[in-house]
Amino acid sequence: MEYTQLGSTGTRVSEICFGTWRFGMKSGDVLETDRSLAHDLLDTFWEGGGNYIDTANVYGTTSGTSEEYIGDWLTDHDREDFVIASKVYFPFDEDNPNGRGLSRTHIRNQIEGTLDRLGTDYLDVYYIHRWDENTPISETLQALNGLVEEGKVNYLGASTMAAWQLTKALWTSDVEGLERFEVTQPMYHAAYQEVDNYLDVCADQDLAVCPYSPLAGGFLTGKYERDDDGHAVGPDGSRADLVGYFQDEYVSETSWRVVDTIESIANDIDASPAQVALRYLMDIERFQCIPIVGARTVGQMKENLSATDVSLSADHRNRIAAAREGSDI
Ligand SMILES: NC(=O)c1ccc[n+]([C@@H]2O[C@H](COP(=O)([O-])OP(=O)(O)OC[C@H]3O[C@@H](n4cnc5c(N)ncnc54)[C@H](OP(=O)(O)O)[C@@H]3O)[C@@H](O)[C@H]2O)c1
Repeated sequence: MEYTQLGSTGTRVSEICFGTWRFGMKSGDVLETDRSLAHDLLDTFWEGGGNYIDTANVYGTTSGTSEEYIGDWLTDHDREDFVIASKVYFPFDEDNPNGRGLSRTHIRNQIEGTLDRLGTDYLDVYYIHRWDENTPISETLQALNGLVEEGKVNYLGASTMAAWQLTKALWTSDVEGLERFEVTQPMYHAAYQEVDNYLDVCADQDLAVCPYSPLAGGFLTGKYERDDDGHAVGPDGSRADLVGYFQDEYVSETSWRVVDTIESIANDIDASPAQVALRYLMDIERFQCIPIVGARTVGQMKENLSATDVSLSADHRNRIAAAREGSDI
């Protein structure tokens, strides 16, 4: 495992981040990742050299379970060895009219619960999970800046938003002399078609890009078949098997083309499609790219960590880009 500077910050992170969205998540009657499996996955990640962990206040059924599982695991580890990111925005308490969004009130309430569940007194990265159109970005940034000044948060992050929103937030920080977003978390993977100039903003501003769903929720591992209606059909227990919504979420003509190309490259270089899809992101030069990968089994985790040992040629990269763009090379 190699370590890289997190954007323009002084903090070093493993070149793969572990995403814990499915910790404590119930899909129907199935608990996708229970406490014991979560701890095995964290052990495997840590033993493989991973130090960068992503969670959110609302992950798990009920909200907070993912942070709680991580906090539990950290009691036997040295907190300082890890770079831990969490998020705020989505409703934590559905009944409280102020229990959502990016108001000063909600941010200040949520950080305490997050730190408590994680059993720590600071977060390395605190993301806004979404843009809040009901709260002025200046209020949000002032509240976040206060958390940095109090030592509760080291760096600020921005997940899923439009290029203009990210630009406006950076501009607001600059003119008001507040902490800036240093880390971003868009959905991005080998089959993803960029829709605005979001990644150009990240590149220009030297922001770390930590893409979520880098395997398109498992689709790019090649384990899904296409049924007659074009839906993705996965093995028993896979995400799209458990949750119908995922049969279409990552599926398009483009993604089928990209996964075919990834499988063919994986075959040529004796790697797995998951490793090729991850390596492709890690090698991006236009901006710093640290994929936040999920894993539901220890085997998947080991396979994904071994993406660090795979190398892709320029020709491989061009073939994946051409498949995404639908062009010949
Ligand atoms: N900011 C946001 O709004 C946002 C949104 C989504 C996610 N996230 C973050 O990003 C993280 C990753 O997202 P994601 O889970 O969608 O990422 P992903 O890495 O694209 O998908 C992970 C899923 O793919 C399957 N998988 C992983 N490795 C595999 C392998 N080697 N072979 C076969 N299947 C494999 C597993 O699902 P099954 O085995 O269950 O099929 C696993 O749960 C989340 O945990 C969360 O931290 C953030």
